Amino acid sequence: MFETLPDPRLDGIIALMQAFADDTRMGKIDLGVGVYRDAAGRTPVMAAVKAAETRIVETQETKTYLSLAGDSAFLESMRDLVLGGAVPAGRVAAVGTPGGTSAVRQICELIRLARPEATIWVSAQTWPNHGPLIRAAGLGIRAYRYLDPEAGALDRDGMMADLEAVARGDVVLLHGCCHNPTGVDLGLQDWAEIGALLERRGAIPFVDMAYQGFGEGLDADAAGLRHLAARLPEMLVAGSCSKNFGLYRERVGIAMAVVPEGQRARLAGTLAGLSRQVFAFPPDHGGRVVSTILGDPALRIMWSRELDEMRLRVAANRRGLADALRTATGSDRFGFISGQRGMFSLLPLSPAQIETLRAAHGIYMLGDGRVNMAGLNEASVPVLAQAMAEVLR
Ligand code: LMR
Repeated sequence: MFETLPDPRLDGIIALMQAFADDTRMGKIDLGVGVYRDAAGRTPVMAAVKAAETRIVETQETKTYLSLAGDSAFLESMRDLVLGGAVPAGRVAAVGTPGGTSAVRQICELIRLARPEATIWVSAQTWPNHGPLIRAAGLGIRAYRYLDPEAGALDRDGMMADLEAVARGDVVLLHGCCHNPTGVDLGLQDWAEIGALLERRGAIPFVDMAYQGFGEGLDADAAGLRHLAARLPEMLVAGSCSKNFGLYRERVGIAMAVVPEGQRARLAGTLAGLSRQVFAFPPDHGGRVVSTILGDPALRIMWSRELDEMRLRVAANRRGLADALRTATGSDRFGFISGQRGMFSLLPLSPAQIETLRAAHGIYMLGDGRVNMAGLNEASVPVLAQAMAEVLR
């Protein structure tokens, strides 16, 4: 039966991870997959996570099933971390999911159940897995303009003009912060204008929040999302603890629906039913680590300080790369890198230049020029800047 299967197409991020692992050259530089790395190139387990894990191992007495939604302490602590009290708890239905990826998929399934004809609007540049997840759920997809590539900034007019075509009941996918792949975030005024547009058009925001704490700080990064939650009757949120808790392989995510109060129970039950059809119960360990940290004042401080350090290191890498490129190329055309936020920026390089960087210099970035700023360090910044100056010559 399987001879009719088309050849599998590996996601570009996963294919690049494989190619990097297969490269035997010393000094190769991985700027592909979005994981945080310290100055020594490691992705360590955060100290607060280690402490919480130790506590869990010592005190946990059972691993029997919980509810389909997962551990209520995890759901409540994540709801508060993300929404920060912008709406009453009685308006939020939530389920734990295996990572933010499953949260996106389950929310797409929820949309399909409620409104199969809805179009999901995504920024023209977006996480490469958004499209496949939306299509796999059988939903239609359209793009709105987002990046002005010359300026390395938001194409505000293009975005707002495209969003004027959103129909009642359509869903607009927004990145909560640290836009992946552009590093260009919406300002509070943009969030307010988008909120007004969605209100006027009767459309629903769907916010993917995968990097809270990596932009400006935990609360500042959620300010736009919280504005929409407080303003609109309905909103969908996919949250991830992969990056800000460094729990990548534990798969810790949350799918939330913010709805009018009387609808919460129906939404919670529907989300739980969708989970039952795919993975049933979400993984527990990572979520328990998160709720242990967020529920303990000392661990919470320890964690948020570690996260601050990570955020500041990425910002320093941005400034370092912008400076090094200014020196190496003799121009300021890459100055935008230092003003962008989060792990990613899109470098304006051609596919041939990106291929030369990989083949001749062992520098790995995605095919669209996305680089993981957290993958750089003091040693690799000048190497990348020199190599880029060479391929641009
Ligand atoms: C990325 O964009 O590199 C990360 O979100 C990892 C992933 O799952 O793609």
